[in-house]
Amino acid sequence: MNPFTYAYPVKTYFGKGAAARTLPSELAKVGPNVLLAYGGGSIKRNGIYAELTQLLQAAGKTIIDFSGIMSNPTYAKVQEGAQLARNQKIDFILAVGGGSVIDCCKIISAQALLDEDIWDYEYSKKQIPNQFIPMGAVVTAFGTGAEMNNGAVITHEAKKSKSPLTGSYYRFTILDPAYTLTMPLEQVISGAFDSLSHCMETYMGNPRMINLSDEINEACQRNIIRNIRQTLQNSQDIQARSELVWAAAMAENGILKIGKQGDFQCHMLEHQLGAYTNCNHGRGLAVLHPVLYRHYLPAAAAQFSRLAVEVWQVPDEGKSQEELADAFVEKLAAFIREIGLPTNFRELGIPADTNLKAVADSTILTGGCCKTFSREELLKVLEECK
Ligand code: NZQ
Ligand code: ZN
Repeated sequence: MNPFTYAYPVKTYFGKGAAARTLPSELAKVGPNVLLAYGGGSIKRNGIYAELTQLLQAAGKTIIDFSGIMSNPTYAKVQEGAQLARNQKIDFILAVGGGSVIDCCKIISAQALLDEDIWDYEYSKKQIPNQFIPMGAVVTAFGTGAEMNNGAVITHEAKKSKSPLTGSYYRFTILDPAYTLTMPLEQVISGAFDSLSHCMETYMGNPRMINLSDEINEACQRNIIRNIRQTLQNSQDIQARSELVWAAAMAENGILKIGKQGDFQCHMLEHQLGAYTNCNHGRGLAVLHPVLYRHYLPAAAAQFSRLAVEVWQVPDEGKSQEELADAFVEKLAAFIREIGLPTNFRELGIPADTNLKAVADSTILTGGCCKTFSREELLKVLEECK
């Protein structure tokens, strides 16, 4: 194992009624001006906004609304939020939504206290911000696990770049699975597939010798697959939903990454595809994963063959490692079809004239796995996804 330190800064309140149960004591610890940040309005339709504003008012807070955070949040929206936070002397940010709202606020909390442009600060000056407006998250769309980490994925439209920025950890996160029951089923499935992808991307990272983190990871993958199937039987099954919400958090709360580097090449490619097409994150991953993984062979045979047996229950008797590794990729591809996710760019709905070379040329090459990709091979992968 690699050497590691384990401590986790995000306090997690899980379960039905978690907001009403825990927000009053959390809000008592913070100043009066609260930025209530959310997306396009789903929280107004499903009653979450009304419930949270009541709790904020009962705690004596002044609420400043910051709405309209879009999927794949933009750098311009970060700047708008940071400006508002400065003008309104915000003491605390309550982010209510999915990965997009949660990510956007991580960077608002840093940019509001930073005089320089945070993109230049992180990418040109290679600095990491260290002052933040404190924040809490209320998850209404699960999958990304963004509430558990301090990385944010932001689309800089002018630079045609959807890239990670480092922001703040949340002081606390509220995971009430019932809050997610109004998510459109398509988003439920793409979110859950995103969680599965996080597990696989972590599993594929170095070192490749199987360890405890990987064995816990295998259990998470089995759990996600089972509960996606259960959710497709009954989209309102609260038990299945609870498992998926916690699995999403588990994939990003550091436990599966202990002693490992992580791969995330598929994510980097999907993010740049998103920069050029604004596609849905989980659905983009669904198209890319099997195609990219065929290019991991034969280098990834040891890990893929283990996933075939331990996660996908492929009988190993009489099969070579190579045959098992192939079986894993085909099982994954079949599952993506089974659960109704797109299998090519046409089904994903991205324009046929998308500049795939520009996507490949601007993708971060991770090199944390059994294989380092060249830009030429990434372009081949993208061409095969058409
Ligand atoms: O905007 P509203 O009206 O709220 O609608 C949202 C949005 O349209 C809707 N929604 C959320 N909660 C709902 C609901 N609809 C009904 N009922 C509810 N309870 O769901 C839609 C999607 O929300 P969004 O936040 O965009 O989705 P997701 O959670 O998948 O987040 C995607 C973003 O997270 C990034 C992605 O790249 C993408 O930008 N990621 C962040 C990661 C991280 N920080 O760790 C890791 C991931 O790999 C990912 O890259
Ligand atoms: Zn993801």
